Amino acid sequence: MAILPIHLPDASWYPAKGDRATLFLRFIARRFLVFGILIAFVLFTISRMFYGREAFLEISGTSQERQHSRWPGVRLPPLYSRYHQYELALPQHHWHATSHEDEPKFFFVPGHTWGLGWGNAMQEILLNAYLSYKSNRANERHSRFVFYNYTWNMDPSQDYSDYSGKPIPSRVPLSALIAVNHIIRIEGPIVGGAFPDGQHAPFAIAEEYYRTICEGRKRVLDREEIHKEIGSSMVDPITKGWVQKLSTVDDQCVEVARGQDGGIYTWIIFGEKDAMHDVWADFAASPIITHFRWSPLVELAFDNNREVFAPTTVFEAPLSTIPYAVPSAQRYAMMKGLLALHIRRGDYAVHCDGLANWSSSFLSFNSLQGLETFRIPEGGGWGENTPENIAIYRRHCFPTVEQIVARVSEVLRSESARGLESVYIMTNGAVPWVEELKTALLNTGSFKHVSSSRDTVLNWEQKYVAQAMDMLVGQRAQVFIGNGWSSVTGGVVVMRQANGFHPDSTRFF
Ligand SMILES: *[C@@H]1O[C@H](CO)[C@@H](O)[C@H](O)[C@H]1NC(C)=O
Ligand SMILES: *[C@@H]1O[C@H](CO)[C@@H](O)[C@H](O)[C@H]1NC(C)=O
Repeated sequence: MAILPIHLPDASWYPAKGDRATLFLRFIARRFLVFGILIAFVLFTISRMFYGREAFLEISGTSQERQHSRWPGVRLPPLYSRYHQYELALPQHHWHATSHEDEPKFFFVPGHTWGLGWGNAMQEILLNAYLSYKSNRANERHSRFVFYNYTWNMDPSQDYSDYSGKPIPSRVPLSALIAVNHIIRIEGPIVGGAFPDGQHAPFAIAEEYYRTICEGRKRVLDREEIHKEIGSSMVDPITKGWVQKLSTVDDQCVEVARGQDGGIYTWIIFGEKDAMHDVWADFAASPIITHFRWSPLVELAFDNNREVFAPTTVFEAPLSTIPYAVPSAQRYAMMKGLLALHIRRGDYAVHCDGLANWSSSFLSFNSLQGLETFRIPEGGGWGENTPENIAIYRRHCFPTVEQIVARVSEVLRSESARGLESVYIMTNGAVPWVEELKTALLNTGSFKHVSSSRDTVLNWEQKYVAQAMDMLVGQRAQVFIGNGWSSVTGGVVVMRQANGFHPDSTRFF
């Protein structure tokens, strides 16, 4: 079709008017045009039938969505546009109001984690939401938490980013990961939902709304200055310091200036092993944690793969049928008989040596009271370590198949491990390696069933939030063995501890 000139006069071979040949050519051209349109229509209809709605959306999407020269021939990830639209349409956003003065205050921490896995982003989101919640309790005039995308790439012109040669979405709306339900006015306190009954706090708002209505009237607080005053890298004094600071500010739009390491709670704090100790009891009892809920997308992925994690023997209600009001501890009750292992491969081959060279402790989320600890081997230097110490770190951080089997056998002897029958391996490892590990675990004779992240069946939107589904499995397993330096393990550990799992059932390699 494209080679046929639509307007005959545009063609250089178009002869003089009145010519018989011209009339003939015009006749042929029209026929071709009609024929061409007909063919295009038929092909389009067939492709719709074949690939369904998703293919249709891709065809009608932007040219960038259709194909990308950076990853030729590769199907591009979803952009979750309907989740973004849903977030923007939340009823607490008064987009068309003439004045916003009677709205509550807004509190935004912009320097949030980016370019890192979901586990890293999640720990910061939980604490930012907790700080907003505390500030609401302490201050007369309530403030709304400003929630934001899980961001891999800050460049708004890039919808996709490269991760080890594969395209991933640059941004995932938070509502695709964490639940939001403003309609029945309960739960989902982080992503614009309401707090449980009796806990008054205003709905959270989306970053776009904040940016739009606060344009030109933001009160920006200097993180560095406030943290110098606080003089601590523990979460409790930092939170209290900020709550105090916020109580002295009257502006409607309050924002934290991005410090050199990020927002309020940075990687330094998450790497500090005692950072959560003083705040733990209050944090775990706050609705941010007691009413934490994964998104319907994540819960549905869990339900669909329920038999993959561990075969069910009796009827168990799917998570997606449990009412919203049910708190996290009941909703995500223990799956008896299941052992979940979190095993990081890939970049951890190098990362673990780096951790050894800096004699790193477990992360703060993995160092809650009552849990087993990692004793840092002596003799490490400044950015270097002895081969013996590096080997110790590798055993805990990047264990071999033999080391994993040995550690599992050790944990099996503990009281909490009674009745384990199935193993689910949460991993980013390559399939052949994971298969080798599965065989080794089955060969111990201790388990009836072994599966891994590689065995799950996910739809296209679930594929890019699969880490969250894995976390949900880990948090519900009867026994969990994780990686003390991983924030994905950290999210699992925090939920297990908060939901009353015995500390003896939460272990590390
Ligand atoms: C969140 O992500 C969506 C989709 O990529 C984007 O349109 C929106 O601008 C992002 N929000 C912010 C505040 O960056
Ligand atoms: C760790 O230190 C050793 C020497 O002590 C060095 O060979 C290695 O490259 C370092 N690795 C990382 C990831 O820093």
